[in-house]
Amino acid sequence: MESIVVRGGRPLAGEVTIDGAKNSALPLIAATLLADGGACRLENVPELRDIVTITRLLQGMGAEIESCGNTLTISTAGVNDCQAPYELVKTMRASILVLGPLMARFGKARVSLPGGCAIGARPVNLHIRGLEQMGAEISVEHGYIIGRAGRLKGADISFDLTTVTGTENLMMAAVLAEGTTTLRNAAREPEIVDLAAFLKKMGAEIEGEGSHTITIHGVERLSAAAYRVMPDRIEAGTFMVAAGISNGDVLIRNAPLAALGAVVAKLQEIGLEIEPQASFAEDEVLGGTPVRVRRRPEGLRGTDVKTMPFPGFPTDMQAQVMVLLALAEGSSVISETVFENRFMHVFELQRMGADIEVEGRTAVVRGVAKLSGAPVMASDLRASAGLVLAGLAAEGETVMSRVYHLDRGYAGFESKLAALGADIRRISEEL
Ligand code: EPZ
Repeated sequence: MESIVVRGGRPLAGEVTIDGAKNSALPLIAATLLADGGACRLENVPELRDIVTITRLLQGMGAEIESCGNTLTISTAGVNDCQAPYELVKTMRASILVLGPLMARFGKARVSLPGGCAIGARPVNLHIRGLEQMGAEISVEHGYIIGRAGRLKGADISFDLTTVTGTENLMMAAVLAEGTTTLRNAAREPEIVDLAAFLKKMGAEIEGEGSHTITIHGVERLSAAAYRVMPDRIEAGTFMVAAGISNGDVLIRNAPLAALGAVVAKLQEIGLEIEPQASFAEDEVLGGTPVRVRRRPEGLRGTDVKTMPFPGFPTDMQAQVMVLLALAEGSSVISETVFENRFMHVFELQRMGADIEVEGRTAVVRGVAKLSGAPVMASDLRASAGLVLAGLAAEGETVMSRVYHLDRGYAGFESKLAALGADIRRISEEL
């Protein structure tokens, strides 16, 4: 098992480049299943455990995948096994994203029901109901979703709650369906707009992505295409907090600011200076903007945070902003409206001296003058990032175990922080 050891108190300084977005790369890779010939080329793919998992999943189905640095070349012409086995799905719930493409292109699928995870039950009932509205026959047998269909038929689908991968799965199911599909109360996340852009390069006909209503006109076939994954807005937001919590001065290259409106507004309210630097033109090519991030001289002030679907404040930044508020002047109320159990990081932060009380989906954070380093345990991806951020500011040494959670969503996190001057390293602990 590996741990991360960080000694706090060093202000971060220098430049960091944000990688491609995990939550865009995953549906983009799943979407390559829709091409019936040629090879898709995806650039700016982050080197993460979850990416390895989904490429293994597609290779198991018969796809040919070449990986060279941050570029994947994927041919799915030879796919002949429409299964997503439990062994892989249990390690990554986002495997459910192959269900829509498999049903669209092959009319059949056998995908393990993703279990719940640390942050919640994570049901996929809306994914299944949408496919049934499109004419699929879906049964759940021995923990597997078994789907059968002739050609899917366009349908008018209303989501009773906003689901990111549900919207993505049904958008992918609809692109080869007969007729038109309308997704109402669709999720508006930037990663959905990224996916729609790739699907349109493959030949799909989609309108309204990024709004609450997406219309997809089914076509006969899709061909391979090339695409560059958008920068990761959550990694960018995480480094903004790292700069602020360490009282540093950091230039974040290619930050997708258009996708970070609520995050930037909230961090500025708490007391960070976040200044776009228009001078680096090439970042426009990468799909982002360089921003300089520092803490304002008057320090950090508490405020309330409510996580919401995009364009609201993202739940994937909740743990990170909580750590910042733990050191802010005054009290803050954090409401986690998206997931039912996303406060596990609180108990670890309390061990570092944070003053936080949890009542259901609400956490009351009272700012303290300092945090103290301690042995802590990661529980999920974003909680682990938050604990590392706490370690950057804490007095003394923090040792975070279960680093595999972090590796799912952050490429070279400790190396990037060390390059900014943090006293941080990864160690292997004997079992
Ligand atoms: C995506 O998960 C992200 N993952 C999550 O990021 C992110 O936290 C989440 O969206 C919310 O923004 C990927 O994109 C791979 P949802 P997803 O379906 O799609 C309920 C990270 O850290 N729901 O939008 O699984 C569900 O229980 C990860 O990178 C149903 O009830 O989230 C939740 O309460 C964590 N039935 C709410 O909707 C369904 O059929 C939102 O879930 C689907 C969802």
